[in-house]
Amino acid sequence: MTAKIIDGKAFAEKLRGSIAGHVERMKTEHGITPGLAVVIVGEDPASQVYVTNKARQTAEVGMNSFKHELPANVPEAELLALVRELNADPAVHGILVQMPVPAHIDANKVIEAIDPAKDVDCFTPANVGKVQIGLPGPVSCTPLGCLMLLRDELGSLAGKNAVIIGRSNLVGKPMMQLLLRDNCTVTIAHSRTQNLADVVRQADIVVAAVGRPQMVKGDWIKPGAVVIDVGINRVPAPEKGDGKTRLVGDVDYAGAAEHAAAITPVPGGVGPMTIACLLANTITTASLIND
Ligand code: GUN
Repeated sequence: MTAKIIDGKAFAEKLRGSIAGHVERMKTEHGITPGLAVVIVGEDPASQVYVTNKARQTAEVGMNSFKHELPANVPEAELLALVRELNADPAVHGILVQMPVPAHIDANKVIEAIDPAKDVDCFTPANVGKVQIGLPGPVSCTPLGCLMLLRDELGSLAGKNAVIIGRSNLVGKPMMQLLLRDNCTVTIAHSRTQNLADVVRQADIVVAAVGRPQMVKGDWIKPGAVVIDVGINRVPAPEKGDGKTRLVGDVDYAGAAEHAAAITPVPGGVGPMTIACLLANTITTASLIND
């Protein structure tokens, strides 16, 4: 079997097109321009790229984009003060503080300072709880993007055996909630899981989010499964020349593609969906704030 490649880039582009239409209607019919504030602390190159892409795509769909860059040694109190200022700013409907923040800053304190009404990452306890009990509000961006791709591929997910590898607050746990809401039978595997290969072999749906390059092997994939690879790992690529690198996922793509019915590539799979879902969440929060 050679898997179908799930084109997350094209899907995200279509989604951004419909978001742009939604933004236009909010402007003309309600006089509201959704605004997204992105805060970055320090100069981590990968975070810089993500934040630049987020700000650019926010502006491209017609929203207001506010970018705040703080030095790596900024005192925690100063970051918290900026978050509170953004909470109070009526032009800002969404606030994202790029993670990770430097070690001297308590990430949980920062998350808890964000007004849940503007929490487009769905990181605050209030919004995590809302997802759990099915109330309206923002939904974690990467898991939402994965869910959209899965629904597009499979239609109904009811009764599917889903195995999520990784139990992070950012991906694994919210992914579990969303798949459960779609009536999957969900297993979360993690670093202490025994016989991981056998667990994954039971899965109709595999979501890999561990941050370890090509850890999931091709022969772990049940024939006909759908594989969603959340990992973005930079590894040496000597074949491209000295000191060169390339991006790979958490799944051995070539091996898995021999068994899966469909698989997301890295790059071009889940990554573009995350930003598109961030924009969708900003529409959600702007709509709820102005309800
Ligand atoms: N760092 C990596 N992914 C994310 C994300 O989705 N949101 C935030 N705030 N930081 C991140």
